[in-house]
Amino acid sequence: MGDEFELVDPGEVQSPGDEWEEIDVSDTEADRIARKRDREFEQFEERIKDADQFKVEQSVFDDATLAALYKLVQDGHVEAFGGPLSTGKEANVYTALGPEGEVAVKIYRINASNFRQMREYLEGDPRFEGLGGNKKDVVLAWVKKEYANLRRAAAAGVRVPEPIAVERNVLVMEYIGDEDGRAKRLGEVHVENPRTAYEVLVEYMRRLYAAGLVHGDFSEYNVVFQDGQLVVIDLGQAVTVHHPNSREFLERDCRNVANFISRQGLEVTEADVLEVVTDVDPDPSGN
Ligand SMILES: Nc1ncnc2c1ncn2[C@@H]1O[C@H](COP(=O)(O)OP(=O)(O)O)[C@@H](O)[C@H]1O
Ligand SMILES: [Mg+2]
Repeated sequence: MGDEFELVDPGEVQSPGDEWEEIDVSDTEADRIARKRDREFEQFEERIKDADQFKVEQSVFDDATLAALYKLVQDGHVEAFGGPLSTGKEANVYTALGPEGEVAVKIYRINASNFRQMREYLEGDPRFEGLGGNKKDVVLAWVKKEYANLRRAAAAGVRVPEPIAVERNVLVMEYIGDEDGRAKRLGEVHVENPRTAYEVLVEYMRRLYAAGLVHGDFSEYNVVFQDGQLVVIDLGQAVTVHHPNSREFLERDCRNVANFISRQGLEVTEADVLEVVTDVDPDPSGN
């Protein structure tokens, strides 16, 4: 890979103002569809269950998940489903066809999710005050948080997949990749110029921090490389600076970056990264 990482132009940063929007975690349309089970939905369910790309992973698709996919199709965000991109611990990611081209669909498995840990990440986040302890609600809040975090990161000038829609445990976002497949993770490519990579990574962390967000799982696994750009993904666990452990998460993120960059031959320390990233006062209010 070349040394031509482009930073997203900070001129694209939107004016702040929608900060700490309330996130509604009440019953979803998908739950209502799943309960009603009309004929059209049942036909959709049959079709999806027979689709080759999903056959091996029936367990992902309980009725309510199918209803969420059905709703996303009805709302025009998804036109056809493609194959799997990744099978993770808590979520699977698929490609799909949207009205404007390929999209990525991340489906959380409510039962496989470590909701106790998720709950810890949601605590102290002003957007989720009053969230109950019910497993489903926690996972649904998590998915909405990932969507909100992607929006906030994009508004702060960080290159992330554009969030498109969220429905229950399903998140639809911009697909990062091309005909040859998903974009490679930073850890999967040869980094020719570690200095530029370092500068872009640190600048994105700094922009997140300035917008009041700490990624919480920032590493070469959650940054992908596409068209000369580094794209930060997987923002579900990102917390606001209000979180009681946000400093600890930030230090871990800095450590991951320092270790990765040092392995590429450019000696940097956690303290170096931390210093640049926290050189701004976080303004979570967005003003
Ligand atoms: N928007 C996307 N476009 C292309 N590939 C993606 C996208 N989102 C995720 N992926 C792929 O799926 C993998 C898992 O997604 P991620 O959000 O990191 O979930 P997990 O929580 O399982 O790590 C990523 O490493 C990446 O390869
Ligand atoms: Mg990941």
